[in-house]
Amino acid sequence: MKAIAINGSPRKNWNTATLLKKAIDGAASAGAEVELVHLYDLEFKGCCSCFSCKRKAGKVAECCVMKDDMTEVLRRIMSSDILLLGSPVYLGNITGEMKSFMERLIFANLSYDSAERTNFTGVIQTGFVYTMGLPHEMLESFGYQYIFENNKNYLQLLNGQSEYVISADCYQFDDYSKYAASNFSEKHKAKIRREQFPIDCQSAFDMGKRLALYVEN
Ligand SMILES: Cc1cc2nc3c(=O)[nH]c(=O)nc-3n(C[C@H](O)[C@H](O)[C@H](O)COP(=O)(O)O)c2cc1C
Repeated sequence: MKAIAINGSPRKNWNTATLLKKAIDGAASAGAEVELVHLYDLEFKGCCSCFSCKRKAGKVAECCVMKDDMTEVLRRIMSSDILLLGSPVYLGNITGEMKSFMERLIFANLSYDSAERTNFTGVIQTGFVYTMGLPHEMLESFGYQYIFENNKNYLQLLNGQSEYVISADCYQFDDYSKYAASNFSEKHKAKIRREQFPIDCQSAFDMGKRLALYVEN
């Protein structure tokens, strides 16, 4: 059982990566072999609107034809059983890199030509971890829930279960005293980090494990 995890945060060891690694551990605990890819290490662009994936003459598209560092990653994803994704919320959405990645992953599989909506013939279970600075109670009013559900909808074009875990009110810096950030209470952030973040990590672990068990069954 193969899994690929995609870190859409520029930071390799902070909130998003920590949760993603927990999801990886969960999938591994149920027998998955997991590869971790940091998006910010790759040179790639989002969809260039060439529409090669929609050409009648071409073979059925599953993989975007653009050639860059993403080409090989997409090829490996398409032959995997589980895809784990992680992104911080940046300006009310996933990071630019993660958005570009999603365009490349999803658009080739999005059918313009069938009621099924998908060209993909395989099954990939998908799980997303989202991190953000805002507290949980503001998710709905800032429209984040819509973004998460929208991504879930698109990921379901890969024919598997799609789940997500949200970690809100994240601790953002190593030392709050060094930053002009008086809008945030370090004391409150530290409490969330101590009490809620480990619960979110467990949720990410459980999600990874659940997705691997779907593959097994
Ligand atoms: C450029 C930028 C934009 C951000 N925009 C938002 C935002 O719109 N909403 C929010 O809740 N948090 C926002 N944040 C906070 C991050 O989502 C939060 O700190 C997250 O945990 C960072 O993930 P990381 O620790 O993996 O880097 C922003 C942070 C940065 C650097």
